[in-house]
Amino acid sequence: MARRAIDRARRFTAGAVRVLPRRVRAELQRALATGDAAASGNTYERLYDAQGRAMAPASSIGAGDFDLIGRKELGLLLMEHLRSTDTLVDLGCGTGRLAVHAIPTLAGGHYVGIDIAQSMLDHARALIDTRHPSPPCRVTWQQQRDDTFQLPDASADMMCAFSVFTHMEHEDTFRYLVSARRVVRPGGRFLFSCLPMSLAAARDIFRESASRTLAERWATVRNVTTTPEMMETLATMAGWTVRGWYAGDARVIETPGESDRLSLGQSTCVLERPTDAR
Ligand SMILES: C[S@@+](CC[C@H](N)C(=O)[O-])C[C@H]1O[C@@H](n2cnc3c(N)ncnc32)[C@H](O)[C@@H]1O
Repeated sequence: MARRAIDRARRFTAGAVRVLPRRVRAELQRALATGDAAASGNTYERLYDAQGRAMAPASSIGAGDFDLIGRKELGLLLMEHLRSTDTLVDLGCGTGRLAVHAIPTLAGGHYVGIDIAQSMLDHARALIDTRHPSPPCRVTWQQQRDDTFQLPDASADMMCAFSVFTHMEHEDTFRYLVSARRVVRPGGRFLFSCLPMSLAAARDIFRESASRTLAERWATVRNVTTTPEMMETLATMAGWTVRGWYAGDARVIETPGESDRLSLGQSTCVLERPTDAR
């Protein structure tokens, strides 16, 4: 596949490690063999923790402009009516790309950053300690190794998972959608991004992934492409109402600090927890 297509695909994802420089790949192999999570039976934790230790915080969660992508993610949340006093749960918060912009916005609210990889959380905490030593809102960091949220029922006004289900098998995505529904209050929203095959970048990623063996695909964080229909079916089965989509290639995001509307690369689905008693 054309190198440019791979680069375009990598801009939005944490996977496609085969195109990483040889030095980084070697470091990643070392990290996979060592560290607290190396023996973990949890594949996601083992792979992500190694990536968080082997790579720089700005690139371990994917290539692209760290600051700008974080602002686009915040822009999407604001377009979906995130309020300053809200409790926002950032599932798969990574190294703080969204947190660094969301925390100053949540004056009087609560930011909860959750990640499976301790290495990612350590970077996120360090970034926020440097950039926002006196945050205007409550800030909580949690390592969560499976789909059991350590949060009370209906305690979140909004949850987001940017570029998390993008790297997860659909069965696991479903499990997280089921558990997240307990945590988000009735009427609250859950925004997640993914890579539907309708996007040219997703088709490039799929072709690249299909060129590998099963073992190669799961040797590093992999990209899982999908369809809107699949994701909507999972969300509906998990008890969510689908409110709509922001297509990954549509320049529609009102991005803080930018005069033009921008696109994210991955498509973002907006879910709402129904207000009925279910
Ligand atoms: C591609 S990064 C995206 C980070 C962040 N959401 C952003 O957009 O800047 C994916 C992050 O999700 C985390 N992650 C992956 N699977 C997870 C899971 N099952 N539970 C919690 N975090 C997870 C990874 O450790 C990684 O930090």
